[in-house]
Amino acid sequence: FHYDLLTGRHVVITAGPTREPIDPVRYLTNKSSGKMGFALAEAAAEAGARVTLIAGPVALPTPERVQRIDVVRAQDMYQTSMDVVEQGCDVFIATAAVADYRPTVTADHKIKKSTEEIHLTLVKNPDIIAAVASHDKRPFTVGFAAETQDVISYAQGKLTNKKLDMIATNDVSGSNVGFNSDNNALTVIWPGGHKVLPLASKRQIAKQLIELIAIRYKD
Ligand code: C5P
Repeated sequence: FHYDLLTGRHVVITAGPTREPIDPVRYLTNKSSGKMGFALAEAAAEAGARVTLIAGPVALPTPERVQRIDVVRAQDMYQTSMDVVEQGCDVFIATAAVADYRPTVTADHKIKKSTEEIHLTLVKNPDIIAAVASHDKRPFTVGFAAETQDVISYAQGKLTNKKLDMIATNDVSGSNVGFNSDNNALTVIWPGGHKVLPLASKRQIAKQLIELIAIRYKD
């Protein structure tokens, strides 16, 4: 690991879950802890990069020398990401577990208990990384894919469909990796190659992934 791999580069990372309000006291979210994104932010800063970390609601301290922007909803994460990409960045890493859908309407007041069955209508959220990868100021774009089956083929599909430069994929069907764990194992795929990063701490995995990104970015 070289400490000047990303000197002079601006790296942007999304991390954590998003929170989609149903009413003033309820929301939809997921189990993302944000640990992988925060570990990557720390590793990128150690590699000399200027780092912007766009974080959903997580209980993690901000790594040293990292500029953190807190967001709540997917729409806020999307707008913040677009603003940062518009201003210019070199590498964009999307680790956030963005909610795929949000309630179509957010009630102004707490929804009251009433009938036996009620319905919640959802609408699709914008795909942040796909928008970043199609931007005219497109940075080197790296996605994540957490899968429980056919891990590699689903990841390859996302690499192509979202027009990414690289995708890091992990199998979250086991309990020793991925969501909320301190460890992770990744298969990193790019057009024309791949590398397996075997089970290690998220901090070690982050350093290896940052090194791989820096090498591919230079190419
Ligand atoms: O399609 P899927 O959600 O599995 O793709 C995962 C990748 O896409 C991750 O890098 C995630 O951060 C990103 N993503 C995003 N915006 C969304 C959904 C996913 O940036 N609305």
